Amino acid sequence: MERSIGIGLLGAGTVGGTLVSRLIGEVDAIAAKTGLTFDVRKVGVRNLDRDRPFQVTEGLLTDRLVEVIEDPTVELVVEVMGGLDPAGDLILAALDAGKPVVSANKELIAARGPELIAAAERSGVPLLFEAAVGGAIPIIRPLSETLAGEKIDRVVGIVNGTTNFILTKMSEHGTTYIDALGQAQDLGYAEPDPTADVSGEDAAAKAAILASLAFGTWVGIGDVYYEGIEEVTAVDISFAAEFGYAVKLVGVCERTDAGVNARVHPAMIPVEHPLASIRGATNAIFIEGPAIDSLLFAGPGAGGDPTATAVLGDMIDAARETLAGAQVAPRIRFSPGEIIDFSDISTEWYMRLLVDDKPGVLGKIATGFGDAGVSIRSVWQEGGELEASLIVVTHPAAERAQREALSSLRAIDEVIDVGSVIRVLGDGK
Ligand code: HSE
Repeated sequence: MERSIGIGLLGAGTVGGTLVSRLIGEVDAIAAKTGLTFDVRKVGVRNLDRDRPFQVTEGLLTDRLVEVIEDPTVELVVEVMGGLDPAGDLILAALDAGKPVVSANKELIAARGPELIAAAERSGVPLLFEAAVGGAIPIIRPLSETLAGEKIDRVVGIVNGTTNFILTKMSEHGTTYIDALGQAQDLGYAEPDPTADVSGEDAAAKAAILASLAFGTWVGIGDVYYEGIEEVTAVDISFAAEFGYAVKLVGVCERTDAGVNARVHPAMIPVEHPLASIRGATNAIFIEGPAIDSLLFAGPGAGGDPTATAVLGDMIDAARETLAGAQVAPRIRFSPGEIIDFSDISTEWYMRLLVDDKPGVLGKIATGFGDAGVSIRSVWQEGGELEASLIVVTHPAAERAQREALSSLRAIDEVIDVGSVIRVLGDGK
């Protein structure tokens, strides 16, 4: 026997539009597999006049978003509008009204996760957000359920499709940064304002969620240091390749005896690491723990269809739980824990300097590193006579020490420019 569930949708952009089209077009297939049909009763949008990829029936759309929550025929609220406001308060209102919620909103979960999860717990309804990280890749459920018994040490993720697409195009086709970004936007990977993608902010929200679920200590977006790919050049990508590395924007979440940490920055990854071969808009999340060794989750991480598949999965899950009639307990609990400041995190640095090629310059540079307590692993020079490019790769040292070394290098007269700094992904030990 089939059961129909009344859906209230908040947002009908790339993901929401795709979702409604699929709920209509794939109704029989979904019903055959799950015994459920989803009947979209209300769609809350900001702009009533925009074209939609689905048939808009009388009374379906509203720009009074709260109507979506208040409609008594809406049994499940699906939020795909993004942003903090008004999505956060609408979700809270839905949960307080005892309605299960499915959200794809990484920014909101990373900012207000504990508050929303507590509201869901009070009402005994599910709050599911599989689509918030990694598009179609199942990762929220594996971290909070399948791997709940594993003491996860580290999660490293390529969690922004736009930047991975751009870096892949720059590396494989010599495409300029701007052209590659334009292509990512045309393909629907980038956020409406791509600054969030290229600055690392989008990945930071996802890293916050991954760290929180992996370690069971809440890591909010404000706890995540991030930097983007704006400074990465084709020259560095090709140097990296020569040295056996691929350049990727990664979210790194680590747990040590001192606490937990999450950060996002471009990183040089050894070509033999599974993440180095992740190309285009594909996302991948690499999880390490003592019993599992490592697991790799990979797949399409952006775009309407992949994200809509993750939302649909959550809708089916939430509908099943609701129909079972039980009070739903949260799938994850957070305990207090220490969050390690980024300046105390130890990494290896790759640095490309443009220097005057004169006697004694290398000595001054080595002293700059030495005085800051940073040990040099390798030095490579290209060019010469008047100016030379100097590539320095350090041993692991705390971020604050690396930065101190960087400032003293900048103060050396013969150092014309510090072109780039890219951290090297070590083995996390
Ligand atoms: N704009 C994101 C990306 C997708 O490029 O990965 C949604 O988070």
